[in-house]
Amino acid sequence: EKAGYEHFMLKEIYEQPSAIKDTYRGRMLADRGIIRMAGVDDNLEKFLNAKRIIVVACGTSWHAGLVSEYIFEDLARIPVEVEYASEFRYRNPVINKDDVVIAISQSGETADTMAAIKLAKENGAFVFGVCNVVGSSISRETHAGAYTHAGPEIGVASTKAFTTQITILSLMALKLGKAKGSISNSDYHMYLNEMEQIPSKIEKALQSNDHIMKVAAVYKNAKNCLYLGRGYNFPVALEGALKLKEISYIHAEGYPAAEMKHGPIALIDEHMPVVVIATKKGHYEKVVSNIQEIKSRKGKIIAVVTEGDTSVKNIADHVIEVPETFEALTPLLTTIPLQLFSYHIAVMLGKNVDQPRNLAKSVTVE
Ligand code: F6R
Repeated sequence: EKAGYEHFMLKEIYEQPSAIKDTYRGRMLADRGIIRMAGVDDNLEKFLNAKRIIVVACGTSWHAGLVSEYIFEDLARIPVEVEYASEFRYRNPVINKDDVVIAISQSGETADTMAAIKLAKENGAFVFGVCNVVGSSISRETHAGAYTHAGPEIGVASTKAFTTQITILSLMALKLGKAKGSISNSDYHMYLNEMEQIPSKIEKALQSNDHIMKVAAVYKNAKNCLYLGRGYNFPVALEGALKLKEISYIHAEGYPAAEMKHGPIALIDEHMPVVVIATKKGHYEKVVSNIQEIKSRKGKIIAVVTEGDTSVKNIADHVIEVPETFEALTPLLTTIPLQLFSYHIAVMLGKNVDQPRNLAKSVTVE
């Protein structure tokens, strides 16, 4: 059942190229420039007339929602708010009839997300679900939706659910951007072609596994770890920190890189590993200067960089390469080394990787 892998988590990390293909198969016809998604096509007017999109989710799914904020605003020019379902439901939020609510949930059973959906429906909003588990409660409660088709995710720490959620949300943003005319035809086609390259680029990123294991061995006894990213990779920093916390029980924080100087920089010393996502484009120069600030305070830098990078290589303690892609699609690649890094640390510490203490795969209580 684990197909020769030691843990479900590792199997699911390695399944991401095929899971993402399953997500876009039959939906994205790159050579014909078509994105077909019944749940979006049938409700296209609602999406096109939406004054804003409100994303509700928890945990890793909330991080996928944060990535979608960047891509929806960037490509479809629709304002997006991303809400923790547990906060949204109890806040007496302002919900309008022309709001589109997107609920993201791997299990489709998360109690807080479900309650947020019910509240949005009571207020007349159109609610679209992005779920993995077919026939789950959330998939039935929403007006329409799209399944991620990632296949069963058994490891409690979410991996392929995250990248397939980002895939679905990116397809939606591209489809809406095309329909609204907010992206050019040529960009649209370039994105579709690039999306088709993502599975093989993830394969490439997975080839760093042995190197990542060696880096993990250096930091396995760290007490804290900081994760930094900007733009599209800020949510990836949050997700990297969550992965480390939940399976290795090492305290970790994700931060937008530029916020470091507003507080967390005080934590930096020779004992603090800092994982920095520093891919090309995406505020690269600014992230490089953030790295210099950390180095001058003796912090240890583990940088995720674009293949062939030289500037970061000169200053970081370790670099992990991922292939180059469009900035908006980088989260699909930069997430991979962070998953592997957490995985290896947890294994080296002898933790129960697939079933971390105190956690459940679906959180059906609030
Ligand atoms: C993290 C993790 C949790 C879930 C969260 C939402 O690895 O597994 O943070 O992402 O409980 O679960 P779903 O997506 O099932 O609503």
